[in-house]
Amino acid sequence: MRVAILTSSDSGYAGEREDLSGPAIAEMVGAEGYEVVSQTILPDDQALLEQEMIRICDDGLADLLLTTGGTGFSPRDVMPEATAAVSQRMVPGIPEAMRAYSMQFTKRSMLSRAASGIRNRTLIVNLPGSPKAVRECLEYILPELRHGLEILLGQAGDCARH
Ligand code: MTE
Repeated sequence: MRVAILTSSDSGYAGEREDLSGPAIAEMVGAEGYEVVSQTILPDDQALLEQEMIRICDDGLADLLLTTGGTGFSPRDVMPEATAAVSQRMVPGIPEAMRAYSMQFTKRSMLSRAASGIRNRTLIVNLPGSPKAVRECLEYILPELRHGLEILLGQAGDCARH
């Protein structure tokens, strides 16, 4: 399974703040045997984010596209909007589960507007911006993502019996 990582951060893109969240994702998925095919930082700009997500999905570069940042309330936080714009089918259960699980760490998890969707054969999942939030969310959803990806890629069949 191939993973592309996309960080949405004005300060990270400008080199004013080190992106710790993208590398945290790479480390976690790498430990689970995923191949990291790209790691990109873009400013919080919806058009640029959409363009990069479309490129990854339409060129079939990754099976899973994990994003970090841009899910909050700042006027520049537009990752969920970019994700919804490029997705053909939404997957609300994944961010719902992340938010519910994360409430034990901070009730501010309710403030993440993270979205998830499918474009072609790529699953897109938004994660919040901080490395702490990334770790908390990803450790919870990652084991289940594999099954979803296997179905998306036609590698797993009927799961009604499980
Ligand atoms: N989820 C987890 N698991 N842990 C956290 O520390 N921080 C929250 C939330 N989700 C957090 C979390 C906070 S404080 C905010 S503002 C939102 O994610 C949005 O973050 P973002 O704008 O960096 O994407």
